[in-house]
Amino acid sequence: MRSIAVINRKGGSGKTTTAVNTAAALAGLGHPALLIDVDPQGSASDWLDREGNDRGLREAFTVTGDLGRLAVPTDTAGLDIVPSTQWLITAEKNMLGDLSVGISRALQRIPPRWDFVIVDCPPSLSYLAIGVMMGVRELVIPVEAHSMAFTGAVEVMDELPAVRKLNPSLASIFLLPCRVTRTRHARGVVEALENDFPAEVTAARIRESITLAEAADEQQPITAYAPNGIGASDYRDFARELLNRPPPPVQAKSSWWQSPVSSLSGR
Ligand SMILES: Nc1ncnc2c1ncn2[C@@H]1O[C@H](COP(=O)(O)OP(=O)(O)O)[C@@H](O)[C@H]1O
Ligand SMILES: [Mg+2]
Repeated sequence: MRSIAVINRKGGSGKTTTAVNTAAALAGLGHPALLIDVDPQGSASDWLDREGNDRGLREAFTVTGDLGRLAVPTDTAGLDIVPSTQWLITAEKNMLGDLSVGISRALQRIPPRWDFVIVDCPPSLSYLAIGVMMGVRELVIPVEAHSMAFTGAVEVMDELPAVRKLNPSLASIFLLPCRVTRTRHARGVVEALENDFPAEVTAARIRESITLAEAADEQQPITAYAPNGIGASDYRDFARELLNRPPPPVQAKSSWWQSPVSSLSGR
């Protein structure tokens, strides 16, 4: 089971659009996905028209409650959601770092009933977001193809060494260009991203498409609202790219008999 956080400290960068539609595209390609909404604003929960209950999330993040048991089905086959709740606002104020630890442990305890767990994060590098980054192995950073958004992406990339110290098993980073238009400005921003982060920028591009906003209003993923349009096609391309680039297996901790010292001594 793969675990992916959709993260960017900038609001309006396409996180929720990417989390909902990537999860739906993966489900459509035959890979069951669990979408977890940890943004107290609950945009992904509103999109898929599902309400959460405080008690379940509180138990999952403070004791040893099972986040997987809070999953509710959506109208899309193979796509379940753990909806957000307002309790997350209070929890962030009161629990501080304990919330980060609670979230990361809860994510790691999820039973492998799904192929993908995708977490939609709030627009900040808060205790919530830090906890998610500690608990997953892959990050998707949607970057709007606009010069102002470029700075936001660089900020997240700058945080990575610190995140890797907290989570050494973090394996892959996907910088996903979103809202790509045919303007010279957009092309310039995508080229700058490719120059600065050649390993991380995805081959997939999410083009500007009003149907993505309409799909949210209609409370359907784009793969259901306009299955033959460019929005669905772009998110399916990204889903396929994810499927083609699985993270390396988690490294087992080396034991004393594998250490360089013992091999040097010839034993
Ligand atoms: N590719 C796109 N084409 C057109 N509109 C988009 C696209 N991606 C996102 N949007 C719109 O941009 C706004 C912000 O997107 P959203 O996914 O909610 O960002 P975030 O979760 O980062 O705040 C929404 O109104 C959404 O409909
Ligand atoms: Mg959002």
